[in-house]
Amino acid sequence: MIVDDALRTPTADDTLRTPSAVRDAERWTAHNYHPLPVVIESAEGAWLTDVDGRRYLDCLAGYSALNFGHRHPALIAAAHAQLDRLTLTSRAFIHDQFAAFCQELSQLCGKELVLPMNTGAEAVETAIKVARKWGYQVKGVPSGQATIVVADGNFHGRTTTIVSFSTDPDARDDFGPYTPGFRIVPYGDLAALTEAIDDTTVAVLLEPIQGEQGVVVPPAGYLSGVRRVCTERNVLFLADEIQSGLGRTGTTFACDHEDVVPDMYLLGKALGGGIVPVSAVAADRSVLGVLRPGEHGSTFGGNPLACAVATEVVRLLATGEFQRRSAELGVHLHTALQKLVGQGLLAVRGRGLWAGIDIDPALMTGRQACERLAERGILAKDTHGSTIRLAPPLVVTVEELDHAVEQLAAVLRG
Ligand SMILES: Cc1ncc(COP(=O)(O)O)c(C=O)c1O
Repeated sequence: MIVDDALRTPTADDTLRTPSAVRDAERWTAHNYHPLPVVIESAEGAWLTDVDGRRYLDCLAGYSALNFGHRHPALIAAAHAQLDRLTLTSRAFIHDQFAAFCQELSQLCGKELVLPMNTGAEAVETAIKVARKWGYQVKGVPSGQATIVVADGNFHGRTTTIVSFSTDPDARDDFGPYTPGFRIVPYGDLAALTEAIDDTTVAVLLEPIQGEQGVVVPPAGYLSGVRRVCTERNVLFLADEIQSGLGRTGTTFACDHEDVVPDMYLLGKALGGGIVPVSAVAADRSVLGVLRPGEHGSTFGGNPLACAVATEVVRLLATGEFQRRSAELGVHLHTALQKLVGQGLLAVRGRGLWAGIDIDPALMTGRQACERLAERGILAKDTHGSTIRLAPPLVVTVEELDHAVEQLAAVLRG
């Protein structure tokens, strides 16, 4: 449903709960985020309601963690049922939700094995550890010398090792000493990537589309070229599909657009259905088989609640419905956004229901645009200066997308 009273001006009305809720949140937390001043109380599907009863169309979807919308009935039912039976065992024991989740996710990925963790960053750390171990034990790289090729503009998470190969000063500066063993090449440049590979290289780690960087799609042929070079040079291709995967771009994985099958998928965000943090890596036995008991793990990784919800996520994806919606509605969204290029937008990028839009910086910053959109009942988030990432839940309707684009056009008109 589209709210008729979407156009709202902020008021000094002291009956509103938002101002004090914003103040309290700022008072009691580290300022490692700069959220928009909205305080959400409840949500359903593509819509959020704040503590003052105002409704917003969600055009961020928890950075793609909410691909199936807020509180999808099948996911909520799975969570409720599991909460009433069993929530945590640790991996010291096997629980009855584990095998189905691992099998169904492996099959969705077309891989032989999965290794479940919790956050995206943990999936990335897992991939790095597995690739290094594979390099030493299978490829024969001399001990302690493994290198991994990554791209500039990457975003793979926030751990000390991961920020060691970030090119974003905010993410990296003052968090050293940094983990060695990474070579950074320009994103989309196959020749530079090929050049960076030598006998010590165990893996290439890439986002098939760079989300945090502004939904940057690499040139056609890049991913298939990376696949070819990795195969030729006996290097693992690790595809970080944590944000791009699980239906977001109109296919199960963004790599599918070039018919590319990486050696390892790194998954997170939407895998937890917007309910629990669930991440995983998926690969064949020849790769994941290098791990032995005691070498890697997590207390919460693959817990019963996570597995129950994530199995339901995999079943939703296995229907193909969400990929189809994203592909079809994505064409609609991109066509509508393209019409705003020259009308306040400088560029539009992306695939499926995922768009990076560059606002003309002469008009306003991305932050200002998001604040004005919020006043009009649309929630989106800026990334890097004047770029906004649009990623509505895949349950959004054509009418709701049109409404969002109309509100964007109104903000750009000023
Ligand atoms: C591509 C990619 N990889 C990894 C991560 C890290 O995931 P998390 O925040 O769950 O650790 C993110 C988060 O935005 C991401 O977009």
